[in-house]
Amino acid sequence: MDINKKTFTKETILKLNIFQDCFREWFPVYLHNDYVNPLYIYDMFAGSGHDADGMPGSPIILLTEAKGDNNLYCQLIKDKKKRVYFGFNEKILSKSNELKENIDKYLKECRANCTLEECCIHTQIGQYDFQEIIESENFINILNNPKYGKFVLLDQYGFKQITNDVFLKLIHSPNTDFVFFIASSFINRFKELPAVTDYFEKNKLHFDFNKPKQCHQTIADYYRSLIPDNLEYYIHSFTIQKGANYYGLIFGSGHTLGMEKFLRVCWRHDEFAGESNCNIENDFEPGTLFYGTAEKNKIQDVKDKIKSLIKERRITNNIDGLKYAIKSGCLPSVYISAIEDFKNKGLVRIIGEYNKAATNIHKVKRYEIELI
Ligand SMILES: C[S@@+](CC[C@H](N)C(=O)[O-])C[C@H]1O[C@@H](n2cnc3c(N)ncnc32)[C@H](O)[C@@H]1O
Repeated sequence: MDINKKTFTKETILKLNIFQDCFREWFPVYLHNDYVNPLYIYDMFAGSGHDADGMPGSPIILLTEAKGDNNLYCQLIKDKKKRVYFGFNEKILSKSNELKENIDKYLKECRANCTLEECCIHTQIGQYDFQEIIESENFINILNNPKYGKFVLLDQYGFKQITNDVFLKLIHSPNTDFVFFIASSFINRFKELPAVTDYFEKNKLHFDFNKPKQCHQTIADYYRSLIPDNLEYYIHSFTIQKGANYYGLIFGSGHTLGMEKFLRVCWRHDEFAGESNCNIENDFEPGTLFYGTAEKNKIQDVKDKIKSLIKERRITNNIDGLKYAIKSGCLPSVYISAIEDFKNKGLVRIIGEYNKAATNIHKVKRYEIELI
């Protein structure tokens, strides 16, 4: 099976759209960040560049996004003296060669319509086994350098490439956001077999037999369970159902802004719960009687949890409330609606200056919450 030899399915297109939106959110943040230079964008399982009908695959999508509207970002890269490196990797020689041809062609056409003296992005195409790259000193040095911004796309087949070790390397890398694909149903189906247990610790995988739709979230929980207690880190997943199977994406960022941006992407693709193409939370579907009239189940659930945690004094300030919302897969504004309810009912007193800021959590002014 070669994904690039067939027409991309609608599920593959959804995956690519999310990759695209995710990078569209990431890139300008790092372009404008004067403390981080160069920027490294890696597509580790890059394929050959397009599908059987010439539809762009992830490498071409990333390059197109990097230019911005009317090549705005190219000018910005030049003005800000940023260095932007794309690393595309594809293990299969014929596909890697094809990718090189496609990228050369793309860049040539781009140059033909460009007013800048020279191209402001650098591209490199590799033909390695990903496991070799993740072990290489050069790559590890880049990952570890806090002055470099890194975006790592890992569009593997199946589930075997993002091992515990790979995941731990990624989450310990400063200024590094990543997104990977994983075939969750297969892990669920073969969870007892060495094909799976060689890669995943069985006792940390808690599938619910009655809830197959949730198997990708179970995989996301597995990865979350690997995060050390002393590390503030954010993981969110997006489930993609295709027929009877569930696949999905897992995004990771050490920064609240990275997670906030990814969540915006997910909520644009799933207005019910920001987490799937298959209505996991059983909300009312469009066309049904109660569609749109009630608060979405996921939002209601997280809002209730935030209220309980405030009552139990486990959330005692707005920053913790906002972070709880994003850790639960909701936009930070869900915290605001919870605290507003409490304020309006006279259940809490605010110590400090009350504000309704619900974006850019790292810049929000903190206040304390006291129960009355
Ligand atoms: C799902 S496809 C990627 C598709 C690509 N993102 C696109 O949009 O066209 C996965 C790719 O990874 C390649 N691959 C498989 N194992 C690999 C490995 N160990 N290291 C690097 N590439 C690998 C496959 O040949 C395949 O082209």
